[in-house]
Amino acid sequence: MIPVIAIDGPAAAGKGTLARRIAETYGFAYLDTGLLYRATGWKVLSAGDDPENPESALKGAQTLAPDDLDNPELRGDETAQAASKVAAIPSVRAALLDFQRNFAEHPPTGAKGAVIDGRDIGTVVFPATPYKLFIIAALEVRAERRLKELRQRGIESIHARVLQDMKDRDARDSQRDIAPLAKAEDAFQIDTTEMDAESVFSAALSYLVSRSLKPAS
Ligand code: DC
Repeated sequence: MIPVIAIDGPAAAGKGTLARRIAETYGFAYLDTGLLYRATGWKVLSAGDDPENPESALKGAQTLAPDDLDNPELRGDETAQAASKVAAIPSVRAALLDFQRNFAEHPPTGAKGAVIDGRDIGTVVFPATPYKLFIIAALEVRAERRLKELRQRGIESIHARVLQDMKDRDARDSQRDIAPLAKAEDAFQIDTTEMDAESVFSAALSYLVSRSLKPAS
């Protein structure tokens, strides 16, 4: 069995930074599953359709090509909201499940494992993996981090707007009927509110090593 490290949590809690660092440390492939939902949402928006329309959203998910994930426009907050809307549609989630499982079964470039981040990786996509992290942080801190990230990308945003968008997404992602954002019972939780990236990485690495997953030396 190829090892899969599942990393879940709300937006801007620090999943991506941690996932990339762990993937690099273990030599595993990394998949940011938020990009799959973002690319689907983006396709619907650019076709002038409503992301809450199940037919358009499913069409977007079914026609995803790997190149779609490289689109720089996926990072904007309008796309994030559309992603969160298409993500609540069961047929969309079903269509994207295979992509995620195939990625872990056949990681690109022959990597010996996969690090996969999202909202339901430890609960639905890979419930049997013994390596599960759940990353959280206070809403205000996440909004600040997100604002900084958007500004670094040259996207001007205002704090109140980012905060409200994040609240809306948190609510939609954790209250939806299908695969809501939730901590798997057996996940190791890290609250990054007062931690820097280095200490988050150390805590995650200690957990993985304690579960006998050691980086190749
Ligand atoms: O991780 P992100 O912020 O890029 O994700 C964008 C949206 O996609 C998020 O608000 C909810 C959805 N999503 C999901 O429902 N399940 C996942 N595994 C990943 C993302």
